[in-house]
Amino acid sequence: MSVVNATGTISLARGAPSLDIIDVDGLRDAAARAFENDPGGATAYGTSVGYLPLRRLIADWHGVEESQVLVTNGSMQADAFLFDELALPGSHVVIERPSYDRTILALRRRGANLHAVALESDGIDVDALESRLAAGTRPAFAHIIPNFHNPAGYTLSLEKRRRLLELAHRYDFTIFEDDPYIALRFRGEALPTIFSLDEGAGRVVYASSFSKTVCPGIRVGYLVGPAELIATIAKRATSTYISPGMVSEAITYEFCTSGALERSSARVRDALAERCERLASGLSEALPETRFTAPDGGYFLWLELGQGIDSTKLVAAAAAHGVAIVDGDDFVIDGSSGAVRLSFAPVTPAEIDAAVARLAGAVAALAAS
Ligand SMILES: Cc1ncc(COP(=O)(O)O)c(C=O)c1O
Repeated sequence: MSVVNATGTISLARGAPSLDIIDVDGLRDAAARAFENDPGGATAYGTSVGYLPLRRLIADWHGVEESQVLVTNGSMQADAFLFDELALPGSHVVIERPSYDRTILALRRRGANLHAVALESDGIDVDALESRLAAGTRPAFAHIIPNFHNPAGYTLSLEKRRRLLELAHRYDFTIFEDDPYIALRFRGEALPTIFSLDEGAGRVVYASSFSKTVCPGIRVGYLVGPAELIATIAKRATSTYISPGMVSEAITYEFCTSGALERSSARVRDALAERCERLASGLSEALPETRFTAPDGGYFLWLELGQGIDSTKLVAAAAAHGVAIVDGDDFVIDGSSGAVRLSFAPVTPAEIDAAVARLAGAVAALAAS
C-alpha cells in the first residue's frame, strides 16, 4: 500500500491513488454481481463499442444517444483512437503548455505539428490562442484538460470554456475535452463540461475515465462525440482488439449502478482534499521561495521553482534525499518549464510531511552546491 519503497523513497511521482482509498470490497461485490446478473454478457467477446449496459448508462449521464458513446480500455485508448482519426501526419494540433506527457508523445508519434499555448491558473490563455488563430494557424483540434489539470492542477473557468467554444466554431476546429478528473472536485462549484455547453453542435469530443473514481487497474474509459465519428472509431477498435474488456466493463457497470461509485468518489475526494491541504501548507512553510496555485480537485500540484533552481537538477537532488517527483520539462515541448509536478494521490498525510521536509532538504542542497 505504501509508496515508501524498499529504499525508503516516498513517491509523489505517480498519478495513481494509494490502495487505502480504493474500494476493494465494493469491487469484489460488483464482480460477483456482474457474473451473477449477466454471465453471458460479461464473458463474451462483446462488441467494439463496449459493454452495452455501461454504454447506455454513460449515454444517459451525458444526455446523448448510445451511438455517440464508445467504451474503451482506459481513456488513454480513447485518446489514441481519436488521435488516429484527427492527428494526421502534418496536421496542426493545439495543446496546453504544460500538457499531459503521454498526450504530447502520442501526438508527436503521429507526426502532428504541436502548437503549445500557455496554461494560466484559470486555464488556457484564450487571448494567445485567438492571436495564433487570427495569424493563420488552422488546428484540426485543441487538446484541453479542463478540470484539475495534469500536470498543473488548474481548472478552466466558465468564461474561458465559452470563449474557447466560440473560437472553435469561428475557426472550424474540434475541441478534445480530456476530462478524467471531473469527479474529483473537493472544493468550489462544479462547472459545465465544454461538451454540454456545445449543446450537441458536434464541436466537442469528450473523454473520461473510471481510473480515478474506481481504480486505474480496471482500465475502463470512454469517448463521447458525433455518431459518425464514433462509428468510424468503432471500426478501428474492432480491428485493433475486437472488443474492450467485457469483464472489467460489466464490473464497472455494477459498481456504478449499486451506488458504490458515489461512495467511492466521495471517499477519494475527502482523502485528496486532506492530502492537498497538507501538501500546500507544508510547501508554503518549508519552501516560501516557490510558487503554486492550490488545486480545487484532482491529484496534482505544479510547483514553480523560481530563479536559480533547475527542475531537472532538483528531481535528481530530491531522489538523493528520498523523494520521487516528476520534472516539469516532461510536460512541455520546449524543455524549460521551471517547475516540477507533485502528486498527492499516492501518499498519506504523514508521508506528505516527510516528503516536503526531504524536498526542502534537496532544494537547500542544490542552492548550496
Ligand atoms: C489528462 C489525462 N488523460 C488521460 C489519462 C489516461 O487515463 P486512463 O487511461 O487511466 O483512463 C490520464 C491519466 O493520468 C490523464 O491524466
